Amino acid sequence: MSQLSINQLKQFKNDITRFMMMYKFALDEMETRIEILVQEFEMLHEYNPIEHTKSRLKSPESILNKLYRKGSDISFSGIRDNIKDIAGLRITCSFISDIYLISQMLKNQSDLKVTEEKDYIKNPKPNGYQSLHLLIDVPVHMSDRRESVCIEVQIRTIAMDFWASLEHKIYYKYNEDNQVVPERLLAELKQAAFAASVLDQQMERLHKEIEVIKEEQSEISEEKLNRIIINNQQFALPQALLELLDKAKE
Ligand code: GTP
Ligand code: MG
Repeated sequence: MSQLSINQLKQFKNDITRFMMMYKFALDEMETRIEILVQEFEMLHEYNPIEHTKSRLKSPESILNKLYRKGSDISFSGIRDNIKDIAGLRITCSFISDIYLISQMLKNQSDLKVTEEKDYIKNPKPNGYQSLHLLIDVPVHMSDRRESVCIEVQIRTIAMDFWASLEHKIYYKYNEDNQVVPERLLAELKQAAFAASVLDQQMERLHKEIEVIKEEQSEISEEKLNRIIINNQQFALPQALLELLDKAKE
């Protein structure tokens, strides 16, 4: 080890931990907001637009490698300004329309700031990659200050996610062995991306049809009308309230 004293090393470790924790808090904040949107949406529309979410923090090693690649300053402000995907949140939706719904709901939150949007669904990458990417500044309230922390949000369907993880695995495998991916595989991947997008569009049409039928047939039993469920807890509506409602109708 070089000239660094134990105390300097401790201080450095502390600084990095604090820096990384900001991003973790931003992810926590965002996950809570998504969870609220999902629960509210589920209550209103009786279906869940989100299949699952996954968050990850970029490792210090990957951050350093990316800084070198970009030729940026090795400093906390250099990292903050140049690396926008330290905190990543991936939201997997059932249908394409849900992607835009979630994205719009996030844009509607006045204390979130979308600083960049890349729509690889309307404009897929040449290899076939599809997803909606947003860079969002999230407010994080600490004990003595408020920080605005950038996170990268990727929103995609299950089919897009399936494709992207396979493509990533293939690239990873060949890169590890210092080889390029054969043309035949690249062509097949592109075909698979096209098939995934056809599937997504078909599922979307079916989903819309079913929603109409659901609307037409929506009947609710008397017994269900008299109670509400919140957080798995059941509440009966008081008889007095129901009578008041009945009177108001007259
Ligand atoms: P980075 O420097 O890698 O962050 O690229 P960028 O700033 O141009 O960002 P972009 O929004 O294009 O992509 C960022 C992230 O999206 C990547 O880290 C991947 O997670 C995902 N991504 C983008 N393109 C592809 C792709 O072709 N295949 C897969 N599997 N994932 C991709
Ligand atoms: Mg990026």
